Amino acid sequence: MSSALFSPLPLAGVELPNRLVVAPMCQYSADDGAASDWHMMHLGMLANSGAGLVIVEATHVERHGRITHGCVGLYSDNNELALGHVIAAAKTFGTAKFGVQLAHAGRKASSQRPWEGGTYLRPNEDPWQTIAPSALPFGEG
Ligand SMILES: Cc1cc2nc3c(=O)[nH]c(=O)nc-3n(C[C@H](O)[C@H](O)[C@H](O)COP(=O)(O)O)c2cc1C
Repeated sequence: MSSALFSPLPLAGVELPNRLVVAPMCQYSADDGAASDWHMMHLGMLANSGAGLVIVEATHVERHGRITHGCVGLYSDNNELALGHVIAAAKTFGTAKFGVQLAHAGRKASSQRPWEGGTYLRPNEDPWQTIAPSALPFGEG
């Protein structure tokens, strides 16, 4: 019996081996935007999960566009080097194709990591002024 899920999908010049796609999942484990050893494990594992396509977590286009201090970015040469290193290894040793979710957190920026409370950064937590298309607050504080 043929299966749509496990049949190839041509997409923008890339052929995915199947239609299983891993959604982007923030890990809050970067160092000033730079992907870490955690990402090597996380994305390396997903590269060999059998999924046809893995989307890298929300990757922020500027430092103040991050949700938290642990979010991945692509706003410095160091960020580019760190993520490039992880993706090169994942592609060398894994089977999945990779995409990336470019992001700007807007009103959601300057927040604590979920396990730190997940609300706004306090004055002693190196907060920053958020930049967004709307002036409506995301939440209290
Ligand atoms: C740990 C975790 C991290 C997530 N990070 C992101 C993210 O970086 N970008 C995004 O758009 N959605 C993110 N999401 C939301 C998921 O991509 C997805 O939209 C959500 O889990 C709802 O899908 P579901 O109904 O299939 O569970 C995250 C979800 C989880 C559980």
